[in-house]
Amino acid sequence: MEPDDTTLQFDKHGNLRHLISLRGLTAELLTELLDDAEGYLTEAGALPARDESLAGRTIGNLFFEPSTRTRASFDLAGRRLGADVLNLDVNTSSRKKGESILDTIYTLEAMHVDIMVVRDAGDGVPAYIARHVKDHVSVLNAGESDVSHPTQGLLDLLTIRQHKADFRNMTVAIVGDIQHSRVARSASEALQIMGVGELRLISPPALAPDPERFPGARIVDNIAEGLKDADVVMALRIQRERIGNLDGVPGIDEYYANYGVNHENIKYAKANAIIMHPGPMNRGIEIEGALADGPRSVITRQVTNGVAVRMAVLNRIGKMMDAR
Ligand code: CP
Repeated sequence: MEPDDTTLQFDKHGNLRHLISLRGLTAELLTELLDDAEGYLTEAGALPARDESLAGRTIGNLFFEPSTRTRASFDLAGRRLGADVLNLDVNTSSRKKGESILDTIYTLEAMHVDIMVVRDAGDGVPAYIARHVKDHVSVLNAGESDVSHPTQGLLDLLTIRQHKADFRNMTVAIVGDIQHSRVARSASEALQIMGVGELRLISPPALAPDPERFPGARIVDNIAEGLKDADVVMALRIQRERIGNLDGVPGIDEYYANYGVNHENIKYAKANAIIMHPGPMNRGIEIEGALADGPRSVITRQVTNGVAVRMAVLNRIGKMMDAR
């Protein structure tokens, strides 16, 4: 999304119409969405409750990149709100016969799909679709290249809020391939909007991010320095599918020794630090399996929260549609 596209996300009444990026959203709106998501969680770790607020609406899941968590949770979230959900199988769709993405969108639009949930490897694709759809359609970004993954940012924010009281007095350390991570981008945007105390981004030099993409964050290449007294530790996988040239990227053993989150280096973080990972996870590369399964891990909680957050976003879009 271009910097001047923030307004694309809102209708003429100022209601959220598309969710393309967290950039430019307010702390008030993020807090409302987290509160709404929390309202769907019946008890800690329980599956989100149902309602029928999207009855009569149709959601199209268009995943032009692989996904387990995001696609399944948008599917469950839509069904739990009473919507019809269409999961387009991209591998057997007419895109394989050369149909353009816009013609695919126009075809689904003609079937009165109301909400298009889009994952794509190309920069700017969700915003491009949002600019071309008819007035009755909303577009939700379900993962865009290395640029944005807004509902992941929201579910990470919710998970942190459930475990740590105050974003302003918090140190968050994100470890891994920051350069190619849309998860890191959206988490960083969400945390900066909420006024996080300190955000540290830890990666080998070959996977370090452009600082301009992460304003306000401290970029370090030493894991002990980066994890010191952290309240939240998030591990990320190496996004091999986005790395053209692996020159300078450490091999698996070297990477795990220097950047894998494990029982040795987690001692630098606070004793009550939570351990996060957006998934999919590569045990023994970016995180030790025993830590991922241990008592400080909130990784499965992140997954459950993903359904609740996507329900909250879908419900918000449904209310905007109802108010037309
Ligand atoms: N975290 C995440 O986006 O996972 P999936 O690729 O499985 O959707």
